[in-house]
Parts: sequence; C-alpha cells; structure tokens
Amino acid sequence: MCGIIGYIGEKEAIPILINGLKKLEYRGYDSAGLTIQNNSQLSTIKKQGKIKELEKNLKDSKSKIGIAHTRWATHGKPNEINAHPHINQNNSISIVHNGIIENHNALKELLEKEGVKFSSNTDSEILAHLISKFYKDDLEEATIKALELVEGTYGLAVINKDKEEIIVARKGSPLIIGLGEHENFVASDVPAILEHTKRVIYLDDNEIAKIKKDSYKVKHINGNYVDKEIHEIKWSLDKIEKKGFKHFMLKEIYEQPLSIKNALRGRLTDNIKLNLNFDINEIQRIILLACGTSWHSALIGKHLIEKLTNIPVEVDYASEFRYRNPVISEKDLTIVISQSGETADTLAALKKAKSKKSKTLGLINVVGSTIAREVDSGIYLHAGPEIGVASTKAFTSQVLSLALLSLQLAKGKNLPIRQDLMDEIKILPNKISEFLKEDTKIREIAKEFKDSKNFLYLGRGINFPVALEGALKLKEISYIHAEGYPAAEMKHGPIALIDENMPVVFIATKSDLSPKILSNMQEVKSRNGKIIAIKNDNDYEIKKLADYTIKVPDTLEELSPIMNVLPLQLLAYHIADLKGIDVDKPRNLAKSVTVE
Ligand code: M6R
Repeated sequence: MCGIIGYIGEKEAIPILINGLKKLEYRGYDSAGLTIQNNSQLSTIKKQGKIKELEKNLKDSKSKIGIAHTRWATHGKPNEINAHPHINQNNSISIVHNGIIENHNALKELLEKEGVKFSSNTDSEILAHLISKFYKDDLEEATIKALELVEGTYGLAVINKDKEEIIVARKGSPLIIGLGEHENFVASDVPAILEHTKRVIYLDDNEIAKIKKDSYKVKHINGNYVDKEIHEIKWSLDKIEKKGFKHFMLKEIYEQPLSIKNALRGRLTDNIKLNLNFDINEIQRIILLACGTSWHSALIGKHLIEKLTNIPVEVDYASEFRYRNPVISEKDLTIVISQSGETADTLAALKKAKSKKSKTLGLINVVGSTIAREVDSGIYLHAGPEIGVASTKAFTSQVLSLALLSLQLAKGKNLPIRQDLMDEIKILPNKISEFLKEDTKIREIAKEFKDSKNFLYLGRGINFPVALEGALKLKEISYIHAEGYPAAEMKHGPIALIDENMPVVFIATKSDLSPKILSNMQEVKSRNGKIIAIKNDNDYEIKKLADYTIKVPDTLEELSPIMNVLPLQLLAYHIADLKGIDVDKPRNLAKSVTVE
C-alpha cells in the first residue's frame, strides 16, 4: 500500500524523508520517490524497486522542505515514470497521492484539450496538472479548486517551488500531521514520523491543511477553519508494527476487512474491471498451480471458475506438475497462485507451463517478486505484507481475487452478469468485521481443545478446501495432527478414528448439501465424537447435534469459504497461543519456500 511522508523545518529533509519511507516499507510498495525544494527549485528523484535504489541516487542537498512516497501500483505499471511524486509541466508544483481518482479519464481529456502533456499512466498525475491550472499565488486555494473537480479518494501532499509550506488534504485515505519544535511533518501513517514526534493530528475526510515550520491551519474544504485535537501517541514503534496485537498472525487475521477492500479497490465499481492481456474466448482450459494454502485457494478457484464460466479447470500441486509431462498448449491458461511470489515449486511449474506455450496469469501478493515478473499478466492481491508464517489474509484475498477473475472471465465470454455476487462482494468487508467480534467465544472453545492430539475437519463442495485449510492452520502452528476431508469420505475410512477424544470441525453453513452434512454429524455424534460446527443463524438441527457452534454471517455460497475460514484461523491461533507456541515462527517452517 502506498505511503506518504513530508517534512518542513530546520533540519535536512532528505534523511528524514528516507527514514520515514523505510518505516512505511511494511505496507508494501513497488517504487519510491521524493521531491525537495531548494532555492526556488524543485528536484524530484524516483526509482522503481526498493528505497535503497532511491538512496543510491540521492545527491547532497540543503533542503528543509520535501515530500516523499512509496507507491503500490493500482493504475499503470510499477515503474519509475509512474512512481510519485508527480510534477506539473513547468516543474513548479509536486504532489504525492494515495487513493484513486475515479474520474481521471474525463479530467485528463479536459486538460489535454488545454494542451497539457501527461508523462505517466497514473490517475494521480492529474492532480499536479489540475492544481497547476488553478494556481495564481495561493497553493491552498488552487488545491481546493482542483479537489472540487475530483471524484474518488485521496491522501494528498503538495509543495510549490516558491512557498515555504506543505498543503495536505484527505478524503478516504489516511493522513496525519506530526507536530514538532520549529518543524512539522505529514504522513500517511504514524510509524513514518514516530521517531521525531508523538504529537499528531488526524485529518478527517474533506479537510485541508496548510503546514509551515512553526504553524499549521486546518480547514474544511468548504473554507471553514477547524479546531483539531492533538493526540499523544503512546505506543512504541515495535508495538505499532504489530499494531498492538500479540502476534502478527492475529493482526493479519484482523486486517482481513481491509485486505479484502484493498483487493477490490479500483476493480469492482458498477462493473468488474481487471486488466487481462489475453482473449478469454481463445482459452479452452484453465490450470491452477500452487502450494500449501495457495493450493487450497486454487481448489476453491476451480469451483468458482467452472460455475461462473463453464470453462474446465484442473488444479495441481506445483511440486507435482513440475515433474510430470503435462499435456498443455497455447489454448490453455495456467494460473499460478502465490503469496510470496518466490515459491520455488510454483516458479518451476510456471516455467514448465510457459515452455509448453500456455498463457500464464499470476495471483501474487508480493509486488515485483520473481513469479510476478515471470507471468504474462497478473492480479496483485494487495493484502499488504504478511509476516506470520501461517498464511491468513493472503488466503482470503486469493479467494476474493479468484471470484473477481471468474466474473471478469464470464464477462469476456458474454455470459449473464452475476449482479448478486458483485453486490455481495462489496459488503463482505463489513461482514468480516462483524464476525471478528466472535473472537472471545472462539478462545473459550480453544481452551477446551488445546490438549487434543488429533482433529478432523470436514466440509463439502466449495467448503471442502476450507476444511483442508483449517487442518493445515492447526498443524503448522499448534503441532496438533489434523486432517481435512470431504465430509462424505469420512465413512470410507476416517470414521474408524472417531471416539470421545476426537474433535471434529464441521463446516456446516447453508448450502444445497446441508442435509447431507447433518447426517455426517449424526454419524460422528453417535460415536461420541466432539462436534464443533461452523454455521449460519438459527440452524436448530445443527445446534442439537453440535457440542460447540460458531456462527458466521450469511453470505452467498460462492463467497462462503472467505467467511468460513475465519473461525478456523482464529481457532488454530488461540490453540497455538494457549500452548505457548511462537505463533509467528512455528518450528521448521519458513514464510517463503524458495528451495525444493
Ligand atoms: O508464498 P506461497 O503462497 O507460494 O506459499 C505457499 C506455501 O508455502 C504457503 O501457503 C504455506 O503452506 C503456508 N505456511 C501456509 O500457511
């Protein structure tokens, strides 16, 4: 996710900007840049890749004012040209922007008619030219006039070559002002400025501020001045990185309303909008390849793609595929799914598919990773950095992205539009937030089962992969043996394991197969197994049979894996935490498996 830092004061701006950017690295980015003001001139330096690339290209300067940015591509490729800051044509105004300018095409057309030449493919550049258009001698006024024309979201910082001030504005994308002694700061997030000040002002939507080294003034965009509360930050930098959560895994579970929103951003408005550089009508089959948790999302992807598009889908472990002689051709689309974008087996499988002329697409979280660079086209998950070894938010973003992809493919094939699915996707983040309030109850259930030696997870249809994922989460962080099975397979073997010591987690939310799940529950009950049921509202039959129930909000069956995995992530987390295990770094596991 993009990050902003700005400085105005008596110290050298560049080291402050660079350190601030480094503190925002955890958000993920694909390029970085800064503008400083010196002797009535603006100097801008931008680089693709890591902040250290930017650092290598910096020259000494005596500037005391500057703005800087880490970019996370939404519109336009992650390259130097598209990196921020963006400047106007005579290099007198520079801006950094987080958010999306939805009407940028219309505004661009308007400015182009007036002779403005654009140099990037971003929506953000429009802001530099618009502010320039309105600039007479008042930067704040020009910014307000520009923002009046803008539809969309922004966290914005602007400087001008002659003015000793930074103008900032916010709508839908966070911005804070940090207050110092003869110096002030702006940032998209507290860590960027915390080493300099703990006194911050949170801008609200539709507010604009003029910041000088010894003063600041905040206005509503309608012109009325606003008295802002000054907040004292009480956390340490280390705590903020975990955002007050005991473990990164728990923080990442709680981030899912936001990570899902980020996966959607700019992609689903009235319609679905993914940029794919192949013609779906030339594709006869889709092959999904991945490892671990990403393989589980691939299994869900098969259900989604086949249901929405009627295209046949195969799923394979990347590690198996790479050593087979798969029959593929240019009529196949191979989709690789990977959080890290660096998994060795997935990379090798991708190369094999490419060698057989298959078209390729990646669903990747880490921008600029090897797999992301190897695929013909890609969909970034934009889940933000996932630090806990157990993948959580990346999984739900993968499933969501597969749902978006299925909608896009169906659109490409001129199949009927699933408006119900698009509408439901939009409200999913709220439903996830609603569910996360159940956490205390899940910890109580975890206390009951933390000493169990085995667990069985059962689900059907699109929720069978969720059973696999629940079992994997528990195994990898609690070291309890767990198996995931399609519920109907239980009677073909695992039923022999059921006794009073066997907890069985049923994914029993509403579906066409609900009656069949109930009869599987009865089979477990009559053998004294302990039932934990994941269910929707008011399901009396389930309540009668289950020892413990966890209620998740209703959603469409296509999206139910996203809701249903949440209690399983939390159950695994709490069991592992109660056992005193280092949840973020369980034994023998690495976050990204770059060797075979
Ligand atoms: O980075 P990837 O998605 O390619 O990683 C694949 C697996 O290594 C990963 O999902 C692993 O199974 C996780 N530890 C699961 O929580």
